Amino acid sequence: MLSSAGLALRRWASGCQGGRRTLATVISGNKTSQLVRERLKKDVEKMRKEVPGFRPGLVVLQVGDRDDSNLYISMKLKAAAEIGIDANHIRLPKSSTEEEVLSCIMSVNENPAIHGLIVQLPLDSVHRIDTEAVTDAVSPLKDVDGLTSINAGKLSRGDLGQCFIPCTPNGCMELIRQTGVSVVGKNVVVIGRSKIVGAPMHDLLLWSHATVTTCHSKTTDLPDHVGRADILVVGAGRAEMVKGDWVKEGAVVIDCGINHVPDDSKPSGKRVVGDVHYSSARERAGYITPVPGGVGPMTVAMLMENTVQSAWRFVRRQQSG
Ligand code: GUN
Repeated sequence: MLSSAGLALRRWASGCQGGRRTLATVISGNKTSQLVRERLKKDVEKMRKEVPGFRPGLVVLQVGDRDDSNLYISMKLKAAAEIGIDANHIRLPKSSTEEEVLSCIMSVNENPAIHGLIVQLPLDSVHRIDTEAVTDAVSPLKDVDGLTSINAGKLSRGDLGQCFIPCTPNGCMELIRQTGVSVVGKNVVVIGRSKIVGAPMHDLLLWSHATVTTCHSKTTDLPDHVGRADILVVGAGRAEMVKGDWVKEGAVVIDCGINHVPDDSKPSGKRVVGDVHYSSARERAGYITPVPGGVGPMTVAMLMENTVQSAWRFVRRQQSG
């Protein structure tokens, strides 16, 4: 029987070609998201031919003024405008109460010109606001983040055609599709069980017929689980926690992390890294997403996809009376 070091050496050697290790193919979220956005732009043009004067409408509701949220929102608004979506940013002050936030959501829910509503998270208020109550107040018909209990419940039951699929997991699925590797019957490991990434990712993979193991902060033997993953999706929120030598030879590695770490060589004094140690994982994986330029742009593209889909559903409901 081989020791774990012996096993690791054999795995490493099997990935060598002529003595030199081949690096994983990089899956570009920038390129893939660009293709999705071009397709959606054409789709909106088609919708406007069918219903002259109509535009899909999106509201991004922000509470407070976090720098990271400001950046993400500006990317969402820019992408929406390019596609032909009427994007609106509502910013409520940090002093807002839960009641005020809920009242704003109710008025957007009732506005027929708006087909998608997202509440940018985390909420940045001086008051304690129940995030769950806020995300659940969004009309399920406009919940393009897929975070309401109704949409999450449908996804967990496998009713994928009846719900909005959360944007980051949906983007990860699109990136996996780009590799040509089928998820059917594969051992897939998801690290993280957040409502926005890990939990819906688990459901989506399960109903796409993968065998899914979801790991979290209480999981023991995390490297062993990772070592069995044909496909690995990491949304743990911890900088470079997955080490390259944990990764199975030839695996597909999807990194949802966005972490800022100190870097004196940069003018800003910091740089962005994922949840996977990229350079070492690239020596073992078959495919890998970079950070930045991997999952991040896909999250934005999938929000646009859900908004256009919601607008189509609205149009069809109007047409059928
Ligand atoms: N904050 C970070 N990512 C997201 C996202 O995908 N949706 C929302 N609503 N907030 C976020």
